[in-house]
Amino acid sequence: MPNDTHRKELRVGIVGYGFMGRTHTNGYKRANDFFNLKYRPVLQAACGRDAAKTRAFADQWGWQSVESDWRRLIERDDIDAIDICTPNDSHAEIAIAAAEAGKMVLCEKPLARTAAESLPMVEAVEKSGVANTVFYNYRRLPAVTLAKQVVDSGKLGRIFHYRANFLQDWTIAADLPQGGAALWRLDAAAAGSGVTGDLLAHCIDTAMWLNGGIVDVAARTETFIKERVHQETGATQPVTIDDACSFHCGFANGSLGLFESTRYARGHKALYTFEINGEHASIRWDLHDLNRLEYFDHRDEGILRGWRNIHVSDGDQPYMSHWWVPGLCIGYEHSFVHHVVDFLKALEDGTPCPPTFRDAYETAKVCDAVLASARDKAWKDTDVRWTGS
Ligand SMILES: NC(=O)c1ccc[n+]([C@@H]2O[C@H](COP(=O)([O-])OP(=O)(O)OC[C@H]3O[C@@H](n4cnc5c(N)ncnc54)[C@H](O)[C@@H]3O)[C@@H](O)[C@H]2O)c1
Repeated sequence: MPNDTHRKELRVGIVGYGFMGRTHTNGYKRANDFFNLKYRPVLQAACGRDAAKTRAFADQWGWQSVESDWRRLIERDDIDAIDICTPNDSHAEIAIAAAEAGKMVLCEKPLARTAAESLPMVEAVEKSGVANTVFYNYRRLPAVTLAKQVVDSGKLGRIFHYRANFLQDWTIAADLPQGGAALWRLDAAAAGSGVTGDLLAHCIDTAMWLNGGIVDVAARTETFIKERVHQETGATQPVTIDDACSFHCGFANGSLGLFESTRYARGHKALYTFEINGEHASIRWDLHDLNRLEYFDHRDEGILRGWRNIHVSDGDQPYMSHWWVPGLCIGYEHSFVHHVVDFLKALEDGTPCPPTFRDAYETAKVCDAVLASARDKAWKDTDVRWTGS
């Protein structure tokens, strides 16, 4: 294993020190401890608008310097990569400026608020040729990566159905304010949309990765609480995000999809599940039991046929040889460690690290079609060009 002095530095500047600021920082810190990599992330600078809070974050997590303006961060010669962990309305401006300055760009999902806002980001990274990736992190949980291997092996046979849910219950209270710190997800101007861009985007990314492009959609959305007080202004304003969304869709491979997401499913905090039904076999996965992949194979001997509950923790299963010993679990945060690891490996190999900005743009097109379908009460084509990465 190369020691630190033989590793090439990747000097990171991170924008945003909230939830994702922490998961990404943890990813940078752990990657070289557990994986043998030629690159080593350096926590060069953390950026946030509040100087005291940014300093406190930097001290707690080990960032070497702070900035209070992301433009200044991008100007710095000692930064190789910009990592965007801010609300969705700021992704495009930061990413485009970073790409134009020749910095690699790692961006949180969704890429931006809409596909139209995402496209110039794709063009900017492709024009400057900088490495880029979007943190649709669930792909990199070992059980989900194993699902991809199972699908690609052809074991399921022809795919008939893809089904996914992402359920939460945190916005049921009518007196919950909208907008501002921690509540920007309820403000369409900052978030772009509600559960569609926030939660279904994850489900759509995983679905297209596993099952190919989504061709057309028919959706229904609902906003259960019509008005909320804005956290910052105190004004009562209409709620313009979708609180809940469900949609049917067709995939390019001829299978049917059924997706549901809501923040009004009492009892569910973050229940992401998917199931794929094929001609020979089915698989299903549940974020609350994230180390397990369930598998049913109709070709098994009749009297023993049933759902296998596979604990994805053995050394020959994805990523797991790098962790503890077979049989022991890893968690949510490891998906971000794996994403960082795969980004660094891709740099080593000179290959893209999917999902790239372009992949995430295709997901944004599906989200837009879903919202347009709900608005117009009509089926919509997505115009997706999924390349399989
Ligand atoms: N991959 C995932 O599973 C996942 C999970 C949660 C959030 N996200 C995404 O990550 C992004 C951030 O979400 P979060 O939950 O970390 O939000 P958060 O509210 O916890 O943190 C946002 C951070 O951005 C900072 N910020 C806002 N505007 C800024 C600006 N103009 N310049 C500098 N800093 C600014 C805030 O001060 C805060 O530190 C969003 O795009 C969200 O959709 C992804």
